[in-house]
Amino acid sequence: MAMEIRYSNVSADYQLGPIRTKNVLDDVNLFVKPSSFTAIVGQTGAGKSSLLKVMNGLIRPKQGEVKIGKYSVSSNNDPTSLKEVRKRIGMVFQFPESQLFAETVEKDICFGPLNFGVGLSEAKEMAKTAIYQVGLDASFLPKSPFSLSGGQKRRVAIAGILAMKPDILILDEPGAGLDPIGKQEILSLIASWNKNNKLTTMMVTHEMDDVAKFADDVIVMEKGKIVFHDDVRTFFADLNQIQSWNLDIPEARRFQLLIEEKTGVSLPKICLTVEELADCLIEVGLA
Ligand SMILES: Nc1ncnc2c1ncn2[C@@H]1O[C@H](COP(=O)(O)OP(=O)(O)O)[C@@H](O)[C@H]1O
Ligand SMILES: [Mg+2]
Repeated sequence: MAMEIRYSNVSADYQLGPIRTKNVLDDVNLFVKPSSFTAIVGQTGAGKSSLLKVMNGLIRPKQGEVKIGKYSVSSNNDPTSLKEVRKRIGMVFQFPESQLFAETVEKDICFGPLNFGVGLSEAKEMAKTAIYQVGLDASFLPKSPFSLSGGQKRRVAIAGILAMKPDILILDEPGAGLDPIGKQEILSLIASWNKNNKLTTMMVTHEMDDVAKFADDVIVMEKGKIVFHDDVRTFFADLNQIQSWNLDIPEARRFQLLIEEKTGVSLPKICLTVEELADCLIEVGLA
């Protein structure tokens, strides 16, 4: 089921021994459309990971509320409702493969469902479905997760999250540390679950080419605040603004700006991919 997400006046901080940090989320208001794919970008320390963690109660808002479908996360949640929220949200942290622990891939994928009270035979069925969803097959189930390649390990870790059949998928730099092909494969899989299963998806990334290729909407965070939230083409329209956030632009957009500058011809739209750029160049007769 497609779920919407709404943050209302959410502030959060961390307890560091006896002291509390300043707000790492500062009065955040946000509405994420059901089934959308939203990229979250911004400098290190801007609050991107914290924005995601507050959603399933890993850090609690000290003020305000996050509504996820009919569920709510606030400073005074009871633990049962938090458990329900966590069932509905699949959260893929940075380097999720570091959490693999069982002797076999199957046991690892079954861990989450079993933990939420699913029976063993059903959990095994879920594992089988999930291993195919991440582009592997049943021959991996009896293997040790530690015998796999880095990209395969990451897929197994993500399979464990998909096995829970979440309504929302939250990913914190899911491609980090993978080779370019492994990364593209994982991101393409994520994009296809988003489209096919109407899985509301939020992904932190530093790669503007991935933002251009996969995201519908973009959130820019700065110092615990959301300073931009709009569709991806609007995001990449204003180069000055992007530079003011110390962010980059995708290759295709960079070429577009260079071509427009050198020819004096404006292309009919903001080009996000090389395919779009090629089409635009043909349309205006530059190629
Ligand atoms: N466990 C923690 N304890 C204390 N401070 C933290 C912790 N995690 C993050 N912070 C601080 O919160 C701020 C936001 O961090 P984070 O959400 O991780 O940003 P980002 O993901 O954009 O890099 C930073 O100033 C960071 O130092
Ligand atoms: Mg982070």
